Amino acid sequence: MSQGLSTKHLLGIKYITLDDINLIFDTAREFKEVINRPIKKVPSLRDITIANLFFENSTRTRISFELAEKRLSADIVNFSASSSSVSKGETLLDTVNNILSMKVDMVVMRHPAPGAHFFLANHIDANIINAGDGTHEHPTQALLDAYSMQEKLGNLTGKKIAIIGDIFHSRVALSNIFCLKELGAEVTVCGPPTLIPKYITELGVKVEYNLHKALQWCDVANILRIQLERQDIKYIPSLREYALYYGVNKALLDSLDKEIIIMHPGPINRGVELSSDAADSHHSIILDQVENGVAVRMAVLYLLAGKRN
Ligand code: NCD
Repeated sequence: MSQGLSTKHLLGIKYITLDDINLIFDTAREFKEVINRPIKKVPSLRDITIANLFFENSTRTRISFELAEKRLSADIVNFSASSSSVSKGETLLDTVNNILSMKVDMVVMRHPAPGAHFFLANHIDANIINAGDGTHEHPTQALLDAYSMQEKLGNLTGKKIAIIGDIFHSRVALSNIFCLKELGAEVTVCGPPTLIPKYITELGVKVEYNLHKALQWCDVANILRIQLERQDIKYIPSLREYALYYGVNKALLDSLDKEIIIMHPGPINRGVELSSDAADSHHSIILDQVENGVAVRMAVLYLLAGKRN
């Protein structure tokens, strides 16, 4: 295989190269084969200790990382804190000191403060992996999303991807945009004007406010949740109204004159951004995303471990 990654940390898609992305995908493909064998475990990270630090709620990302680490035979320690119980500054300083004394090799962290991972990376020697930092980035989600799209569509150059929903508060949206643009896809974001960031077109994406038009245009619709927990003011009149104008349902999909792929990073608010009949339809590859998440995270952990000196 090639030289390895260009970086020791995964802080965001913005900070890795196209070669890095392709290397992660090639490695993930091999790990996907491994996790579908009767014996799913490999000894690749046997001497590596990983701390999973979750300062924000998570179900699938935490489980996915944990499973990836176990499949690679790493030793792991888990820490979760509710974001409301700890103050930002103290938490990160405490974290640094704890990690230093535990002799941890790699840190997977989810934190409500955008950029928290840069602080850690500047203070400790461990490889840092961003599992979501506030409204900023969620790089492994974007990698598994793009990997899942490639699995269905092949090369993404020129493919049309619509990202639909709360673009303003979504770290998945930003990481998806960086990753998909790097891979040569065309990206359109769609949602109510209040949930589309003002200067988003500077990232090379188009904006479409009409859901039907966005769906009619795209090959893939990546549908995102309204991040109510990050909204300090009212951006939409009501969830009911949002569902009426921006909810994707089976009737809408059937009204298109082509087949499109439906994705969602989870957790789904069924009946709001996505109806059950669409989420569970043949259009959906949501469960493939979950399966690919483990393989992609194994690849990231394995490749970053290779950058330890
Ligand atoms: C996403 C997240 O946490 O940013 N979920 C996830 O990682 N599976 C998206 C979301 O919470 O809506």
